[in-house]
Amino acid sequence: MFATRIFSPWVTLLVLFLISCSNQPATKKFTIGFSQCLGSDDWRKTMLAEMNRELSFHNNYVLLYRDAEANSEKQIRQIEDLSRQHIDLLIVTPNEAKPLTPIIEKVHDAGIPVVVVDRKIDSKKYTAFIGASNFEVGQDAGMYAASLLKGKGNILEMAGLPAGASPAIDRHNGFMDAITHYPGLKNTKVDNTRDEEKALKAGNIDLIYAQNDPMALDAYKICKKMGLENRTRIIGIDGLPTPGLGLDMVANKHISATVLYPTGGQDAIQTAVNILENRFYEKENRLSTTVIDSTNIRITKLQNEKVLAQQKDIDRRQRKIEEQEIIRRNQNRIIVAISVSLALALIMGAILFYYLRENKKINARLASQNDEILHQRNQLIELGKKAKEATDAKFNFFTNISHELRTPLTLILGPLEDALSSSKLHFSIKTQLEMVRKNAMRLLRLVNQLMDFRKIEEGKMKMRASESNIVEFVREIANAFTGIAAKKNIAYRVDAHTGDLKAWFDVNMLDKILFNILSNAFKYTSDHGAITVAISTDAARKNVIITIADSGIGMTPETQNHAFDLFYQNSEGKYKGTGIGLALSKELITLHHGSIKIKSEKWKGATFEICLPLGKDHLQETELEKEPTSYELNYEDAKIYTDESEPLKQVTPEGGSTTTPEQSVLVIEDNAEIRTFIKRHLSKSYEVIEAGDGNLGLNLAYEIVPDIIISDILLPGKDGMAITETLKNDIRTSHIPIIILTAKGSMEQQIEGLKLNADAYIVKPFNIQYLEENIRSLLKNRESLKSHYTSELSNDSNRHSASRKIDRKFVNEFTSIIENNIANEDFSVNDICTELGISRVQLYRKVKAVLGYNVNEYILDVRMQKAKYLLRNEMELTIAEVAYKVGFSSAAYFSTVMKSKVGVTPTEYRNSGASSTPQGH
Ligand code: FRU
Repeated sequence: MFATRIFSPWVTLLVLFLISCSNQPATKKFTIGFSQCLGSDDWRKTMLAEMNRELSFHNNYVLLYRDAEANSEKQIRQIEDLSRQHIDLLIVTPNEAKPLTPIIEKVHDAGIPVVVVDRKIDSKKYTAFIGASNFEVGQDAGMYAASLLKGKGNILEMAGLPAGASPAIDRHNGFMDAITHYPGLKNTKVDNTRDEEKALKAGNIDLIYAQNDPMALDAYKICKKMGLENRTRIIGIDGLPTPGLGLDMVANKHISATVLYPTGGQDAIQTAVNILENRFYEKENRLSTTVIDSTNIRITKLQNEKVLAQQKDIDRRQRKIEEQEIIRRNQNRIIVAISVSLALALIMGAILFYYLRENKKINARLASQNDEILHQRNQLIELGKKAKEATDAKFNFFTNISHELRTPLTLILGPLEDALSSSKLHFSIKTQLEMVRKNAMRLLRLVNQLMDFRKIEEGKMKMRASESNIVEFVREIANAFTGIAAKKNIAYRVDAHTGDLKAWFDVNMLDKILFNILSNAFKYTSDHGAITVAISTDAARKNVIITIADSGIGMTPETQNHAFDLFYQNSEGKYKGTGIGLALSKELITLHHGSIKIKSEKWKGATFEICLPLGKDHLQETELEKEPTSYELNYEDAKIYTDESEPLKQVTPEGGSTTTPEQSVLVIEDNAEIRTFIKRHLSKSYEVIEAGDGNLGLNLAYEIVPDIIISDILLPGKDGMAITETLKNDIRTSHIPIIILTAKGSMEQQIEGLKLNADAYIVKPFNIQYLEENIRSLLKNRESLKSHYTSELSNDSNRHSASRKIDRKFVNEFTSIIENNIANEDFSVNDICTELGISRVQLYRKVKAVLGYNVNEYILDVRMQKAKYLLRNEMELTIAEVAYKVGFSSAAYFSTVMKSKVGVTPTEYRNSGASSTPQGH
């Protein structure tokens, strides 16, 4: 659009200019063929020169010239050839009349105009004739001879022209016609110089009549040779202005006279042009002649010189014009080139202008975007500053709080240690105080770690490295964990390839690092697992490598990436720490110029690899301690670290499990729309978890142990049938009701599904209320099964009737584990998990689903049942002994628990005898 607007005026201008350059009218080009009988003599050269001069006034004419060299045959061939070349007109001077007549007639008959010049043909079939009358010329010569000789004397006629040519005949006839009136005149005709000489020698020749000037010149030369030049008069024909010929011969008195015979070249062209351009022309054009002798030679020569000068002038002008024409053409070409360049320049200019404008716009846009970005950047910097201030404030707050906490904690711990060291302390009180101490220590450690972290962040934590045996050091710290390892039945060992390896490290820092990582390993390794500590050097003995490998729950890549982040809690909620320990360890390792990395896979354990440079070249002078720092392992501290891996069973039975979770539904369906539809309807009453494929569905079933599963049959990954089969045959999930939901409605499939223990089979398209009804009734059945199991539990005999063998097996195993361990005070949920080979979550969910109980409550209940039995039936046992037998470490605590659970103290219960009704499940 823009381009058209800009360019169109220029294009128009250019076109107009180009048109104006070629302003000559488109005239037709003509080709004239000119057949000359003989081209070499001066008279005919003059004729051709006249023709060309005349043609120079006509741009649109081309002359094709042929010289027949006085050969009639040749001339015929040349004319034929010219007519084949599509000439528009033929000019011909026939060599001889007779032989040339047919071809000229033929050309004329073919419609090509023919102009005959000088010599005639034996026909009237030509368009025009131009020439003087040779008869008249002969007469003029005859009359002049008669007057010169005063009617008396001998004449020698020199006839050298071709005998068949009309001038030869006419000139002779005209001459004879004139002299017949003078009987005293006698004419002898010869046609070659030999005869001429012979006649002259014979004597008495008074006058030579030469049929043209060249022959007159020859006659003069012969006469001179014979000494007759003063006696013999000569008359010639042509009157040529050529130096030494015609006019000059008259002026030099070599001959008496010459009869002017004009060539007619100019007339021939003028007539041809008139014919071709359809203008008027005469068919017969008689050119006038005259006798030139001593009386008029001066004026004739003058005129002739004038004519010659004018002709030269014309030629010069013509050349000038041609030069001008060349210049004009060149100028035109230059102007065209300039115009094209100008037009191109304008076009380029317009394009340039357009792009410059666009560029300007883009630049303006970029500038404004830049401003915006700058503005945003400043805002971000500002926000960052504020965020940093907020973080600093937060950390300062934490640091201050931590500081504040340290004093009261120390004040709690001091008197506590005193109290605990007292031997008079009652056992139950001592147990309680131990717990207070443990937790106070734990709090103190957290506070200390937090403050260490702040110190590092502020750059105030300084390394104090001294040279020690690092193998020995690592062993010593690792040994602090042997107690907990034994307690948890963990295969724990320390591997070192050497007993002695000197390294520079800060003992107080490395001890924190190792305690943190080891306690982390113990925290996530379940009973009967394995933990290995290994110390070695790298191949170049440049670094010491300490690895701590556990067989715990492992980490996802995501958790590994954030494991050293401060206060990081992973999304799965499984890998929870205080959020300080690992972060602090990493910072301390960095202070040692070392590194730490994790190799782990979910469910496949984790390996922490610490790499510390050997030697002291990497450390600054201020970081070095001359004397080896003494280090004393604080086993109490170790105990606090390791205790973290123990569940706080007497404080909170299990995180979150005291509250009844909402019932959950796992929907395994690859069609997202159906999934969303089901979720929308069910989420009012249930927690809905979604899985888009079979494998994810199966994993989620194990991970979350939902209350009910709805699954499609055709699924990516594992299909619904396989899922049902797997879950129903696994003790961890066998209790979960499964509804198969599918478009496949064949009876065989329904039967197959039910055979695999699917609880219901609903065919798509389904009614959502119908689905909800199914869920409700299946969950209700579950409830009644629970009471069935629990009633069986209290009435220990009736176990054969359970139809769901796996769930029955689970209930049996679960209850017998608890009964076998009822006297073990250290017995915990972990022990049950290990024995059953399932996770804590799975255990809690399973027990809740099958028995409707919280595991800890259930254990406590079993203990209470047993206690009640012992109190009533084993009267020889003291209250304290009963307490120990049902897993309480102190009689006082047993008493407190029984009071809160049963409503009476053990003594009261024993004393109340059979009258008291025990509380049961
Ligand atoms: C030249 C010429 C002239 C003469 C004319 C007659 O070839 O011989 O001298 O006048 O031809 O055709």
